[in-house]
Amino acid sequence: MGSSDELKRAAAEAAMTYIEEGETIGIGTGSTVNFLIDALADSRMPIAGAVSSSEATTRRLKERNIEVIELNTAGDLSIYIDGADEATRHRQLIKGGGGALTREKIIAGASRKFVCIADESKLVGTLGAFPLPVEVIPMARSFVSRQMVGLGGQPAWREGVVTDNGNEIIDVHNLKITEPAKLEQTINNIPGVVTVGLFAMRGADVLLIAGKDGVKKI
Ligand code: 5RP
Repeated sequence: MGSSDELKRAAAEAAMTYIEEGETIGIGTGSTVNFLIDALADSRMPIAGAVSSSEATTRRLKERNIEVIELNTAGDLSIYIDGADEATRHRQLIKGGGGALTREKIIAGASRKFVCIADESKLVGTLGAFPLPVEVIPMARSFVSRQMVGLGGQPAWREGVVTDNGNEIIDVHNLKITEPAKLEQTINNIPGVVTVGLFAMRGADVLLIAGKDGVKKI
């Protein structure tokens, strides 16, 4: 195993063992998850359908003839599978590099098991080298940015990006996140914040990390 794509594919294929026939599966967003969608379609495993975390994932699921089901119809899910931008051994994550953090967090919250798939480059000791994405209501962008400075970060507006929910994203650089759950709560409480890309209070239940020696389960 070598390239990043091969590792992503290996992590995605390892996640297939967590899926059971007849289930409705929550599906995340990103290049690692795209390998999962392909593996799922190629396997022809009969599933009830998928709840999608983004318009991009919905398009890919439909291209691969996997039925997309609304979360409001599906109810609680047994499993959600998604990638991450950073992950710790405590299975706390930074997500949202692809801008889909809000729907991802909703589906993770509605799922009994969250399986996170990633290549080994995503495994870190402390979260925060990857800029922390924060989805904001557009009129709150500058206000929330100033609050991020107050927390010791350097906010950068992801200019030109509009999320699937019609909002904007701030990427917060240089945060050394030693208490992820506390910071998640603090940022959640700022008016205008829709979602912070810290998945600490509800982290992953299983982390599948692909490296050159195979896929490790954490
Ligand atoms: C999208 C995400 C993705 O899971 C994250 O960005 C990882 O993406 P990739 O699998 O392409 O590395 O949170 O909002």
